[in-house]
Amino acid sequence: MRYRIISNTPLTAAVHRMVLAGDTASLRRPGQFVQVQVPGFYLRRPISVCDWDADTLTLVYKVVGQGTDAMADMAPDAEVDLLSGLGNGFDTGLMGERPLLIGGGVGLPPMVGLCRTLLAEGKHPTVLAGFNTAAEVFLQDAVEALGAPFVLATMDGSAGIKGLVTDAMAALDFDSVAACGPLPMLKAVYNAADVPGQFSFEERMGCGFGACMGCTVQVKGGTKRICKDGPVLMREEILW
Ligand SMILES: Cc1cc2nc3c(=O)[nH]c(=O)nc-3n(C[C@H](O)[C@H](O)[C@H](O)COP(=O)(O)OP(=O)(O)OC[C@H]3O[C@@H](n4cnc5c(N)ncnc54)[C@H](O)[C@@H]3O)c2cc1C
Ligand code: FES
Repeated sequence: MRYRIISNTPLTAAVHRMVLAGDTASLRRPGQFVQVQVPGFYLRRPISVCDWDADTLTLVYKVVGQGTDAMADMAPDAEVDLLSGLGNGFDTGLMGERPLLIGGGVGLPPMVGLCRTLLAEGKHPTVLAGFNTAAEVFLQDAVEALGAPFVLATMDGSAGIKGLVTDAMAALDFDSVAACGPLPMLKAVYNAADVPGQFSFEERMGCGFGACMGCTVQVKGGTKRICKDGPVLMREEILW
């Protein structure tokens, strides 16, 4: 579907926020993603939906290669082709009353839409974000504007608690977790909290909608396609 760029602005030196106008009816759950058609590139780029409303959706992405670099150059009013509403997303019905939403680096964006959804359901989420250093921190304002606590951990201690997100978890009160971020972070969170958990995984993708099998991973009891059956896996099914 075609979307129009409303804004595309830097949040930090490497991370940008793109707000797009268009149909959001296909978005059912936080944690779903879109496949962005970047002009000049054959493969689409998968990016999580940070948040959405009736007629806009927001993507927050880090420039790591040629495709995301080209995204950062896209100007307001340009049209973008997206495959939207992809993946399963987080199931808020399986979360407790006090969920801890953990985002590492560019794993943080989907936690904004998840936080908003949980608050609307009357739950009491806390967002825990991990970065390397204070200069990399983004979306703190977006979480705080929702009215949820935002706990920060940085590796160098330049903002928030010094250390990993798992170092900050010990002092927090929660009954379930949702996590998105680098694989070592997901594994550390899994080991640190034996509570109901949902973990969002990244995998290199081809089609993005379940047809090519290019993103298949082993889970307990079989295989799953991260694009279609994920990106969110339940704690019980994960094989590390
Ligand atoms: C479900 C999902 C959600 C994601 N959400 C976000 C997000 O919200 N914000 C964000 O900054 N990044 C996100 N990513 C990672 C993002 O897709 C890659 O950083 C991006 O595709 C890199 O493209 P590139 O052309 O700049 O890099 P290149 O390295 O030049 O890309 C080359 C190819 O590898 C693929 N690729 C590279 N890195 C990844 C990766 N980590 N995961 C999957 N494919 C990759 C690209 O799509 C492209 O096909 C997500 C990935 C997945 C799978
Ligand atoms: S990327 Fe094609 S099946 Fe997942």
